[in-house]
Amino acid sequence: MIAATVDVHRRVADDVAAAAPSGGLVLDAGCGTGLLAAEIAQRRPDLRVHGVDLEQAMVDVAVDRAERAGLADRVTFTVADLADLPLPAATADLVVSTASMHHWTDVPAIVTALHQVLRPGGPLWIYDIRWAPSGAVRAATAAAGRRTARTLVRTGAFPVALFQRLVV
Ligand SMILES: C[S@@+](CC[C@H](N)C(=O)[O-])C[C@H]1O[C@@H](n2cnc3c(N)ncnc32)[C@H](O)[C@@H]1O
Repeated sequence: MIAATVDVHRRVADDVAAAAPSGGLVLDAGCGTGLLAAEIAQRRPDLRVHGVDLEQAMVDVAVDRAERAGLADRVTFTVADLADLPLPAATADLVVSTASMHHWTDVPAIVTALHQVLRPGGPLWIYDIRWAPSGAVRAATAAAGRRTARTLVRTGAFPVALFQRLVV
């Protein structure tokens, strides 16, 4: 499963690198130890990546990783609850999240907060393990008058898809 997690970070970073606008800001929601943020920044030297996570210990590792990789000038982190984001509205060009959604205790508040920080029309991509319930995200999105598209994501050599992506 660890290999699959590494593979999903690479796959998601490829997806983000292909989609983010030039010079844009990507928000990594529930960034953990900053693996995805570093993968994205390494693929696209024009992008800034900002990670947010609830846990100080996770962010400490993420900051250290970015510094060691020489990315600290454009890969930054904040300790915060996604439901109460201390970021300016309409500033992120793309919001991405991996393997965090199944931990979210207040999905409607988080989906609302993530949409507020996105520029109008910017994509919100939530990747999680395939079996993570997506009903709360769908309901929160529908309540805001949007729809959620779900696709399965196969990574590496695994013959079956272990992850899903919700486009919100
Ligand atoms: C399984 S880890 C995944 C970390 C990272 N995204 C990755 O793919 O390696 C889930 C992360 O989500 C964070 N998280 C869960 N709920 C959160 C919330 N409400 N606000 C911010 N971070 C949250 C946890 O602290 C944890 O670091």
